[in-house]
Amino acid sequence: MRIESPRTIAAIDELGVERLPGASLAALTSLGIGGTTDVLRVRKHHILPALIRVLRADGIEHRFLGGGSNLLVADGELSWVAVQLVAPEHDVRIEGQTVWVDAAADLGRTVTTCAKKNLGGMEGLIGVPGTVGGALRMNAGAYGTEIGKFVREVEVYRAAAGENETLRDSQISFEYRHTSFAPNDIMLRARLELPEKPYDEILAGIRVCNEKRRASQPLNQKSAGCIFKNPPGGSAGRMIDGLGLKGFRVGDAMVSERHANFFVNAGRASSADMLGLISEVRARVQAAHGCELEEEVIVWNA
Ligand code: EPU
Repeated sequence: MRIESPRTIAAIDELGVERLPGASLAALTSLGIGGTTDVLRVRKHHILPALIRVLRADGIEHRFLGGGSNLLVADGELSWVAVQLVAPEHDVRIEGQTVWVDAAADLGRTVTTCAKKNLGGMEGLIGVPGTVGGALRMNAGAYGTEIGKFVREVEVYRAAAGENETLRDSQISFEYRHTSFAPNDIMLRARLELPEKPYDEILAGIRVCNEKRRASQPLNQKSAGCIFKNPPGGSAGRMIDGLGLKGFRVGDAMVSERHANFFVNAGRASSADMLGLISEVRARVQAAHGCELEEEVIVWNA
């Protein structure tokens, strides 16, 4: 979608928002899939309510784009614009065991910044790609650690109220790859509380996780991480692998040879290829195990 009204464009400029007209979302997502639209890059949280009002006044739909690492975007010209928060220079601030972090901060870099101040606990999250905001929304987890455990409060833009609001940890529930945030709440900033740990110990933990990940996941290929959630007590990867589906493809969308719950873009995969692969694999697992796998990846239609 292209913003055409000169009045809207002027209002966006006035708010200090950077506009990338007709940007390719394939370039902004780890799967390398997605059509084109205007991308609006926001540096100051407080202008967000005003920006959304400007878009609404012109009848322009929007989606919030984070790190793009758990996202499958439709092909072609998209009917909405993408709003993306840009991390300020100092996106992680540490006072004692308290960490203030911007939603747009890179998750891995946040883990290492905290480690240098002898704050640990998040070692397992080191290789999870994407931003802190994306990790908060999905309650990202790996190797026995979930981010939700460390959250004390989160500042969000509440689309329903059209305002920024701060939620205490008692007002948020974090479950396996699921949180109680409203679907259109936008993560802005979080306060975390981390346990003290010597840097060397944290580093050793980080190394172990990195090695495990390298050994079991296709890190050098374009993917969105695990495509399905694990069913209660089960493993989507093991089930798909057990059906001999590693290497199975629809167009250029392929089940990874290394980890069967990673679907990779092995060339010029379209969104339709990836959706076709998802539904074919889901149907086969359903037929063999009577279990309907739920997507972990977020799917955005055109
Ligand atoms: N397995 C196979 N074949 C495969 C893949 C896995 O047999 O192709 C088996 C493994 O041998 C193991 C079991 O399945 O016995 C579980 O595999 P793994 O340890 O790789 O963990 P996972 O359950 O597949 C989860 C998360 C990952 C996270 C890892 C490590 C989900 C959906 N996935 O994977 O998160 O990195 O544990 O903690 O919860 C993501 O969320 O995108 C993601 C990659």
